[in-house]
Amino acid sequence: MTRLSAITPSDRAHLGNHLGAVRHWARDGHPGDLYFVSDLHAMTVSYNPARLRATTRELLAVLVASGIAPDRLFVQSDLIRELGALTWLLECACAFGEASRMTQFKQKSDGQAMVRLSLLTYPVLMAADILLLGADEVPVGADQRQHVELARDLARRFNTTYGEVFAIPRAVMPRTAARVRDLSDPTRKMSKSAQDSTGTVFVLDDPDLVRRKIRKAKTDALGRVEHDPAGQPAVSNLLEILAACRGTDPRTEAAGFSEYGPLKEAVAEAVVEELRPIRTRALELLSDPAELDAIRKAGADRAADRAAHRLSSALRLAGVG
Ligand code: TYM
Repeated sequence: MTRLSAITPSDRAHLGNHLGAVRHWARDGHPGDLYFVSDLHAMTVSYNPARLRATTRELLAVLVASGIAPDRLFVQSDLIRELGALTWLLECACAFGEASRMTQFKQKSDGQAMVRLSLLTYPVLMAADILLLGADEVPVGADQRQHVELARDLARRFNTTYGEVFAIPRAVMPRTAARVRDLSDPTRKMSKSAQDSTGTVFVLDDPDLVRRKIRKAKTDALGRVEHDPAGQPAVSNLLEILAACRGTDPRTEAAGFSEYGPLKEAVAEAVVEELRPIRTRALELLSDPAELDAIRKAGADRAADRAAHRLSSALRLAGVG
């Protein structure tokens, strides 16, 4: 059984990525799992090449520091030739209407002066990621589920039209922290691309900055501490973060607090402790280029080996290659 998932270096990794994804990848390890930094996906909106390179490296360091075995990691662009080829085959199996229905496309393209075509076809590249490496399970948060559904549909369609080559993947959701919300605006998920970063805790933020951001977090006007995501979204978000860090339940945590101040202090300390070892190890890796370069090179070779047979079968079945 192969599990595969990824994180996009559109900006630095944040607490939502950590609690909702990376932490589970590190803990629920299966022998065949693969995780990668999806740098090609960061190119679907305006970006800075030097910064993309630096953020990709930083994310690779964060994944290693989070406890994912280095032999399960790679960087997406190291497979750009294979992925480019498969994306084309899958674009030829995907309807325009199917791609334009994606919720994330509608959200991300809304109000943009120039919408890159790659923003529309990005879920097809994501399908290529998933299908190229034969993933059976794709752990993702709620925001990415629809894209995994598209990968399933494309795999089935390709298999029935041209011949059996792809495993049919399914999305699996993390049990806890599937959606960490922005600290300043709990109606939105915590996101790398938020305009204002005061509501986003980054994994490599200095501990004092983490404390400051959490102390400034929005609260609800009711003055009570209850886990009630609809009625008290801000406080419920803080309780969910606390429970995820402590491995408890948000309702149980709520019973321990009657005021917002102590709740925020507890959340701040829990988050600082959760991130401390990751920050230390990631900074160490970032200061030693040789170790990280070796991890990246070995990951690229392994992933390319795993992709080769499936890609040549798919090309042959499609009547090319
Ligand atoms: P990305 O980089 O947006 O997010 C990486 C992972 O973090 C989860 N996540 C969150 N979980 C909880 N709360 C949040 N606020 C939060 N924000 C993000 C996401 O659900 C995701 O699991 N397109 C993907 C990366 C990708 C991929 C793939 C994933 C590329 N190819 C193939 C699976 C399989 C993305 O941009 O994730």
